[in-house]
Amino acid sequence: MHIGLVYNMRHTKPDLNNPEYLKEAEFDEPTTIEGMTRALEKLGHTVVGIEANEDAYEKLRNLKSKIDLVFNVAEGMHGADREAQLPAMMEMLQIPYTGPKPLGYAVGLNKSVAKEILTSYGIATPHWMTVSKLSYLEENPVNFFPVIAKPLAEGSSKGITAKNLVDNTEDLKNLVAELLEKFHQPVIIEEYLPGREFTVAVIGNPARVLPIVEITFNELPEGMPKFDHFEAKWIYDNPEQQKDPVICPAVLTPELKSKIEELCLRSFDALEMRDWARIDVRLDKNGTPSFIEVNCPPGVMPDPKDNSRFVRAALADGLSYEKMLEEILQSACKRYGIVYEGTRSKE
Ligand SMILES: Nc1ncnc2c1ncn2[C@@H]1O[C@H](COP(=O)(O)OP(=O)(O)O)[C@@H](O)[C@H]1O
Ligand SMILES: [Mg+2]
Repeated sequence: MHIGLVYNMRHTKPDLNNPEYLKEAEFDEPTTIEGMTRALEKLGHTVVGIEANEDAYEKLRNLKSKIDLVFNVAEGMHGADREAQLPAMMEMLQIPYTGPKPLGYAVGLNKSVAKEILTSYGIATPHWMTVSKLSYLEENPVNFFPVIAKPLAEGSSKGITAKNLVDNTEDLKNLVAELLEKFHQPVIIEEYLPGREFTVAVIGNPARVLPIVEITFNELPEGMPKFDHFEAKWIYDNPEQQKDPVICPAVLTPELKSKIEELCLRSFDALEMRDWARIDVRLDKNGTPSFIEVNCPPGVMPDPKDNSRFVRAALADGLSYEKMLEEILQSACKRYGIVYEGTRSKE
């Protein structure tokens, strides 16, 4: 098939103090785009790469007749609804593409809206409050400490450092003020869930859950809080670090495993995900799983040493990198009624 690979690529190194980096934190490394291209070619497809910059619409329009399907891993460019931008262009041009429709992306990136929807379905998610002005916090004091505060519509632990976990009003006020100023968007304040953390890859049509990934935090330095803050992510994401940051498949009782799977499949549907997504889950103090957030497109670095969590889950399921991408393509094809054609991966 003729596949358009639509992406945003990172050009700077991780550095929280570099505004250029902050703009690109969620973008893919060039090696990811190259690896995906090679993998799609190995499946027998012709691949044309399309960088999702401000010229993307023109590029898509010109290539439309030459593309059977877009594999979309674009993050979009500006604003809280950025992930919905490329899908919206493809809707307009009637180009079939992998993954959710614009609504799914926009909801997925807004942690508060996602939680409102899940709450209406009776799906567990930590108690929360969304604040766009400091005065609101003064008028509505938080009474569910300890809490974690995070920018409403970011990813890749942007704005989430070890000090975002606070247990008193004064620290919370300072933290919220800082986040409001730095990220120019509302802040979501959530009850902090102290239990184990998992991330769950969901794939296919009908959707199924891949082996559950547990994030262990065992290797974090003494005194550093046990959640996935920016410092932790970049300590663990360093390929030179020898320790394995995750366990997959997670060791779970059958009961907990099925509770987590059900939570994720129901969340996937409620949030209008399609073909693939990765869902973060934590256990509350009673050991009950709760939805933290959904990620789509999830990161899929081809080198297993880079520890992309979605890829780890696929490998644990016996899916090679190529087969994983193929299942996403097939899932989208089925939705659009397109006959999938590819030579099977030659391994
Ligand atoms: N309510 C919460 N309770 C406990 N930990 C949380 C909570 N919300 C977020 N975290 C921690 O912060 C990490 C990053 O938060 P998340 O909402 O997933 O943001 P990102 O989009 O940056 O991944 C989570 O993986 C988890 O470790
Ligand atoms: Mg997350």
